[in-house]
Amino acid sequence: MIDDKHETEPKSEPKSDPNPSTPALQGDRLPSAPGRMVTRGLAQRFKRSEEPSEYPDERPQPSADHGLQVQDSALPFPVDEPLPEVVPSQGTKGLLTSVARSPEEELLQTRRVAGTPQPAQEGLLRVGTQLQGRYKILGVIGVGGMGAVYRAQDLRFPGVMRLCAVKEMINTASDRRVRDMITRNFEREAGILATLSHPAIPQVYDYFTEESRSYLVLEFVTGQDLEARVSASEGFFSEAQVVDWAAQLCDVLSFLHNHKPRPIIFRDLKPSNVMLDDQGRIRLVDFGIAKLFQSGEKGTMIGTEGYSPPEQYRGVSEPRGDLYALGATMHHLLSKQDPRLEPPFSFQERPIHKSNPTVSQELLSLVEKLLEYDVNARYGSAEELKRALLSLSSARRSASAKADTTRMLMTGGVKPIWRFACEDEVRGSVCVAGDLILVPSYDHNIYALDIDEGAFAWKYAAEGGIASSPALAGRLAVFGSTDRSVYAVEVQTGSLAWTAPTKGRIYSSPYIELGHVFIGSDDGSLYAFQLQSGGESWHYAANGAVRSRPVVDDHLVVFSCSQGIVYALTLGRDLKWQFRARRGILASPIAHENFVMVGSLDWYFYGLDRRSGWVGWKYRTNGPIASTAAVWEDLVIFGSADKSVYALQASDGRLVWRYETQGQVTGAVTVHQDTVYVGSVDGALYSIDARSGSLRWRYGTDGAITGAPQIANGVVYFGSSDHYVYALPA
Ligand SMILES: Nc1ncnc2c1ncn2[C@@H]1O[C@H](COP(=O)(O)OP(=O)(O)O)[C@@H](O)[C@H]1O
Ligand SMILES: [Mg+2]
Repeated sequence: MIDDKHETEPKSEPKSDPNPSTPALQGDRLPSAPGRMVTRGLAQRFKRSEEPSEYPDERPQPSADHGLQVQDSALPFPVDEPLPEVVPSQGTKGLLTSVARSPEEELLQTRRVAGTPQPAQEGLLRVGTQLQGRYKILGVIGVGGMGAVYRAQDLRFPGVMRLCAVKEMINTASDRRVRDMITRNFEREAGILATLSHPAIPQVYDYFTEESRSYLVLEFVTGQDLEARVSASEGFFSEAQVVDWAAQLCDVLSFLHNHKPRPIIFRDLKPSNVMLDDQGRIRLVDFGIAKLFQSGEKGTMIGTEGYSPPEQYRGVSEPRGDLYALGATMHHLLSKQDPRLEPPFSFQERPIHKSNPTVSQELLSLVEKLLEYDVNARYGSAEELKRALLSLSSARRSASAKADTTRMLMTGGVKPIWRFACEDEVRGSVCVAGDLILVPSYDHNIYALDIDEGAFAWKYAAEGGIASSPALAGRLAVFGSTDRSVYAVEVQTGSLAWTAPTKGRIYSSPYIELGHVFIGSDDGSLYAFQLQSGGESWHYAANGAVRSRPVVDDHLVVFSCSQGIVYALTLGRDLKWQFRARRGILASPIAHENFVMVGSLDWYFYGLDRRSGWVGWKYRTNGPIASTAAVWEDLVIFGSADKSVYALQASDGRLVWRYETQGQVTGAVTVHQDTVYVGSVDGALYSIDARSGSLRWRYGTDGAITGAPQIANGVVYFGSSDHYVYALPA
């Protein structure tokens, strides 16, 4: 699947040397296909010493030299990393861009009707293609009318995985004038973007044209566009959430509208052109039709029907047109009615509160004012709109909540916003699902609580304890239970969508990608189930219980087992490589740049080369590692049973800082903005400065904290084995 010579060439190990001399090796790595590419000696050594003892359901025993072991109270683990993002389906993109029409697309559309060129989809670049000998295509992000947007790797930075987004424009026009216009439009987009510097605008790294295709190389934004968010979410976004996004959009619009020498009118504001990065920050993408404002200039209608203001149809564009499109976007986000499917300018006939009665009257009038047909009846500028947004009581409430937090921290006390008692321990990680928080508990239930108040919404009872942390995909939440089954329930109601059996208890947490649920079982297998039906696509027999959360990265499924082996499989279940630590692995591997990183009960934290599984570096702590790491900037942060939290340089494993808690740190680490959140078996949740490793605050509960905290809207949520779920100001 991945066309990469490094991975498929037989290794350069001398055939006669069963103990390769590379220091990094030292028996740490197993060949991916022992029979084919390795000497018998090495294969035999593996057989002799690495054979799993027996059917593993027991907790790993410490060896003599590893006197320190992970406390019972910290096991069995649901060691989890932060929730995976669900990649928006390409289907949405296709539909979306076929409705959106920029002039180039109009022209291409016309050509297509005339029967000449092939649709853009057929001309997609293959994974592995290199552009300019520098940008390696890793996958498709979206397909539009005039080309695709790809995820790519910049090979100019060989030591690291520098990602970028490559936006392609296929010039299929046969008419020379049309072709030139398309190229000019492309160059204009690149030119404008390259000069803009604003945190909400992705940087332009490069642009070029290869034959009939032009490319724009952009900073890669990790996250989802709001269009995908709308389709992935069940229920409505909260008013405060939409107001926050709108206020952020005001900032970037006012930057554009105040651009010198002339204002820039974005002209195609709509949910699919707004991305939300993994920090919750707004990013404006798709400057395809932005152009320098020339007052009084008339041109063709540019934009997207449904979002575009009436005057733009007459070729007039000015800053208040972007405010109209922002109003249409807010209307869409709040009402969940897609304006492209309705007659243009029909918002007045479809008031938001008819579909979503929770929106306040103040916000309704604000959106109505933005959607005024008459330009002069709207807000005068993005700044004026932002002031109006911030004076809404929903915005004031969330601002005062933030102020309270600051006060509390200054006086040294962290007070829970709410807490909720389950009937048994909460060992797994909680999961934020829109306005709900899902809590896996040993009492056999998964609870859904109102995120703001902690009020009970629903619960779903499995037949066994739930230590597995739920993963979300669209309307479904998926998790496993010690009753051996995987469950998918509707997030909003808790009603069962499907279950799928395995042959062992499930402590592993699911990872959802490519329409599949990947999850391990104590029966020693990793399973791939179809997300929609729960049908099994395949399973792969590992050497021991699979308790970690797998990760799918760059078409490799990476997971670990309790026998200390990390496996990397292709999506077709072929073993690409495997690596063996000296003792079991309960933590989940994480993928970052060129590395797969994971800690082992052998006390080491490993940085493995993600193409080969070779050890790039390793770092020894003073105890077994069961904690799943998190990456922040260029640091990898994890805990150890030696009570410390470690931050290492992800590129070479050098220690940057270490913070000592009062108990074993076995839970997964979460980093939000520049703060590390991690629980300890001493019962406390620690908030640590990610840069310096100094303590910000500590909050004590009456039980061990072994799941990963989750952060949303300035609140940190986590469970404790004292049976409670807590919501604290982050
Ligand atoms: N820099 C980026 N990083 C990550 N994803 C991006 C980036 N730019 C665009 N996307 C994704 O690709 C989609 C299409 O990109 P866009 O520039 O809007 O092209 P189109 O002209 O096809 O609408 C966006 O809706 C967004 O989901
Ligand atoms: Mg777009």
